[in-house]
Amino acid sequence: LQIDPDELHTADFVVVANRLPVDKETLPDGSIRWKRSPGGLVTALEPILRSQTGAWVGWSGVPDSHDNPVVDGLQLISVPLSASEINEYYEGFSNATLWPLYHDVLVKPEYHREWWNAYVEVNRRFAEAASAAASDGAMVWIQDYQLQLVPKMLRMLRPDLKIGFFLHIPFPPVELFMQLPWRTEIVEGLLGADLIGFHLPGGAQNFLYLARRLAGQATSKGTVGVRSKFGVVQVGFRHVRVGAFPISIDSGALDAESRSRKIRARAAEIRTELGNPSTILLGVDRLDYTKGIDVRLQALSELLAEGRIDPSDTVMIQLATPSRERVDSYIQMRAGIEQLVGNINGTYGEVAHQVVQYLHRPVDRDELIAFFVAADVMLVTPLRDGMNLVAKEYVACRSDLGGALVLSEFTGAAAELRSAYQANPYDLDGVKDAIMAAVNQDDEEGRRRMRALRRQVLAHDVSRWAKSFLGALGSTQETASSANRG
Ligand code: ADP
Ligand code: F6P
Repeated sequence: LQIDPDELHTADFVVVANRLPVDKETLPDGSIRWKRSPGGLVTALEPILRSQTGAWVGWSGVPDSHDNPVVDGLQLISVPLSASEINEYYEGFSNATLWPLYHDVLVKPEYHREWWNAYVEVNRRFAEAASAAASDGAMVWIQDYQLQLVPKMLRMLRPDLKIGFFLHIPFPPVELFMQLPWRTEIVEGLLGADLIGFHLPGGAQNFLYLARRLAGQATSKGTVGVRSKFGVVQVGFRHVRVGAFPISIDSGALDAESRSRKIRARAAEIRTELGNPSTILLGVDRLDYTKGIDVRLQALSELLAEGRIDPSDTVMIQLATPSRERVDSYIQMRAGIEQLVGNINGTYGEVAHQVVQYLHRPVDRDELIAFFVAADVMLVTPLRDGMNLVAKEYVACRSDLGGALVLSEFTGAAAELRSAYQANPYDLDGVKDAIMAAVNQDDEEGRRRMRALRRQVLAHDVSRWAKSFLGALGSTQETASSANRG
């Protein structure tokens, strides 16, 4: 790790995440460009870091990069990963072991000792980088499932720090978590933090149970609330607090951007380019098997076959950001989805009119907002998702109170977005009925639902999320003993 000695121990606030907010890209002429990296974690944390000074420790997305650039005023500190570590720690243990295990075992998790060893080694490197960046008594906020050992490792290096950890994906029930050969090490790793945050109270409660059972620690027994009633784990003389903090987006900024004349004009243009269909359906996701892209395509296919949707007057746009493209389960899933798209277009399309418009690439922010404004029905159908920020983005973009949201019950967002057309993604008839109810809603009903959704999303933005987490972390020493104990 090469860190400029002048930069050592200077940051009072340090974010530690697997990825930096930008990926390093080398252009054909050899020059370097930093482009936004994918996923909801960056969407949520970027506005927070823009509003306060700090450092961000993470990986640049390419092998062996030691760059520590300042991008948009933010100090970035690269943790270098070799090609084999990318394979074993990132694609392997993070995304072929933990990701499927924490998402209901939608594909079979693979357990390999060499992947675990790489995970331990890389977590140690992240802990060292965070330790080098943080000033005396600094606040360090560690993010997500790729770095669950960092809290304990960092506490051993720097007992002076305030350490928070937030998990951006679901925390699984005990029956699934117990599969993991290194389950005790993971729980003990997390217990190095002063505050451990989950999206939902259910995840916090799963963790409290495991802390009792696997780490043998005394824990509170009362129920955990949302941003309130934290659980407590007693670890020696320390009290570790455990809470639920549903993440969100910069909803005010998105609301303002979506109202601009330019975006409105582009949204109208998109509809014209599509041949002015009565209904535009939209999906926006990383191309991931958790997102249920196949569920919505299957539902559309059946609705077309049953004549409930008119192929000449309907378009479904599916925007899919490439993701984890070397992991086997992602390669297989992509082939399945592209086959479904091909089947629908082959059966119901015309030369001048494809029913499904599928783009396998990220789109620019302005263009994405215009798609949200143009879409009559937003399809968010994951089989399991920690939160799903796309659902909140769509709502934030609909100041016109138009549009309708179809939302899987198995997203974290479903707990907050009660006025969406909710469906169980495993019940295809239920998904089809929810889509038809959204397509056929009358204007008054649509406005009523969208008004209620917007009230929730605009009031609970990402700044409130960060303040509630960091406020609780800042007060850990003072209030630990008065926290909820069962
Ligand atoms: P995850 O973190 O699992 O990727 P989220 O829904 O929480 O899922 O966050 C995804 C983020 O990535 C959102 O901010 C969304 O707008 C963005 N995104 C997803 N797909 C695309 C795309 N095709 N083009 C541009 N941005 C995208
Ligand atoms: O929250 C889910 C998450 O895995 C983040 O940790 C990550 O930044 C994002 O999705 C994108 O995934 P990846 O970094 O593997 O491309």
